[in-house]
Amino acid sequence: MSKVYLEHRDAYHVPGASTEEEVAHALQRVAEAMESCDALVITAGAGMGVDSGMPAFRGNRSLWKDREVSMTYEEMSDDKWFFEDPAFAWGINYTQLEMYRHTLTHAGYHTLWRWTQTLCKPWFVFTSNIDGHFEKAGFHREKVVTCHGDIHHLQCVNQQCRGQEKSDNVWSAGVIPSGLGDKVDQSSLRFTDTAVLDQTCFRCPRCNSLARPNIWFCSDRNHAFWPDESDRRQAFIKWMEALHEAKKRVVVIECGGGMDIPTVRCEGEDAVEEAGVGSLLVRINPTDCRVPAEKGVGLPFGAKEGCERIDAALAARRSSASSGPAGGGRGGGARRSSSGTGRESATVHRRASPGSGRGPRQPSLGRGPRQPSPPKSSK
Ligand SMILES: NC(=O)c1ccc[n+]([C@@H]2O[C@H](COP(=O)([O-])OP(=O)(O)OC[C@H]3O[C@@H](n4cnc5c(N)ncnc54)[C@H](O)[C@@H]3O)[C@@H](O)[C@H]2O)c1
Ligand SMILES: [Zn+2]
Repeated sequence: MSKVYLEHRDAYHVPGASTEEEVAHALQRVAEAMESCDALVITAGAGMGVDSGMPAFRGNRSLWKDREVSMTYEEMSDDKWFFEDPAFAWGINYTQLEMYRHTLTHAGYHTLWRWTQTLCKPWFVFTSNIDGHFEKAGFHREKVVTCHGDIHHLQCVNQQCRGQEKSDNVWSAGVIPSGLGDKVDQSSLRFTDTAVLDQTCFRCPRCNSLARPNIWFCSDRNHAFWPDESDRRQAFIKWMEALHEAKKRVVVIECGGGMDIPTVRCEGEDAVEEAGVGSLLVRINPTDCRVPAEKGVGLPFGAKEGCERIDAALAARRSSASSGPAGGGRGGGARRSSSGTGRESATVHRRASPGSGRGPRQPSLGRGPRQPSPPKSSK
C-alpha cells in the first residue's frame, strides 16, 4: 500500500467523535445501524490485542520496548532471517507464539462474539492479527479470515519441498512445546542454544529443513499456500460481493487497525463504500479514529472500552424500545461509562458540541437478546 495512496485517502477522512456529545450521538448511530443492518463484519489489527496486555509492533508499548534489538518491525519481519540468523528468527517468533498461547483474550472479544450470536446477522471476521485470538475467544474458525496467516501453523523454509496435496504444506505449531522461553535471551530475542532448533519439532517432517510460521512476513519469498486459509478468504470475498451487488446494509466494527500497514482499514472502508445506504464503518481506535466522511463513525477508545460502550448503547436502545415512548429518551447507555461507575474515558473532552441540542431519536423495536454463555475472559 503506497504512502501516496494513504495520504490521498486520508485527505478525505474526518475526525472521529471527540466530545461527550459527539460520542453519545455516534454510539446511538452505531447501535441503530447494527440493529438494522443486513450483515456484520468485525475487523481487527494489532491494537485489538493491546487490551489483552499484548504489545503492538510500534510505539512505546511495542514488542521492542526494553530490548536491545535495533531494527524496525519491517526489517525484522523478513523470511531471510530463517536462513541468515535462525536463532533470531525463531527467538522472536517463539516469543510471540508463547505470548499468544498464554494470553487470555479481553472482554471486548466476548462482547463481539455475543453480538454474532444475538444480533442474528450473517457475519465474518477479517483480521491481520496472527495470534489466533478470535478462535481462542470462541469464534468459528471458518468465519475468521486471517489475511496475514496465523502463527499457530508452520511450513517448511525450503521452497523445493512441497507435499503432494497443498494441504500437506502446512501443519500445526502444536508440535512445538511451551516452556522454552528460558532458552531465549530476552534482550536480543535470540535462542541462546541453537541446538534447540535441531529438534524434530522445529523441522519439516518431509525434508528436515527448518520450519517457520505460516504467516506473511513483510518481505516474504516463500509463503506456503494453504487451502484452509484461502478457502476462508474466498468465502468472505464471495459473501461480500453478493452483499455489494444487492446493495445490502453492512456494518463494520473495526478494532485497532493500524496506519502503517493499513490492510484492515482499507478492507472496512471498501466494504461499506460499495454497500447500500445505511452501511457504517465503526472505527474503534484510541488515537487514529479518523473515518471517511460518509458512512463512518470514529470512536476514540481502546477496543475493550469501545465494545463495552456500543454494548451499553444497544442495551439502552432495547430497553427504551421495550418500555415504549415513555421509557424512551436518548439511550442513556450511550452516555454510561464502560464500567458503570460513572468514569468517563480520558480521551473524551468535556465541551458542549454544536449538536448538543439534538432531540431524541425514535428507537425501532429491538429483538430481545439470547443469552449464550461466553467463553472465558481476562478482566
Ligand atoms: N496480536 C497480533 O497478532 C499482532 C500484534 C502486533 C502486530 N500484528 C500485525 O503486525 C502488523 C503491523 O502491526 P503494527 O503493530 O505495526 O500496527 P500499528 O502499531 O501500526 O497499529 C496499531 C494500532 O492499534 C491502535 N491501538 C493502540 N492501543 C489500542 C487499543 N487499546 N485498542 C484499540 N486500538 C489500539 C493504535 O492507535 C494503532 O492505530 C499488522 O499486520 C498486525 O496485524 C499482529
Ligand atoms: Zn521441507
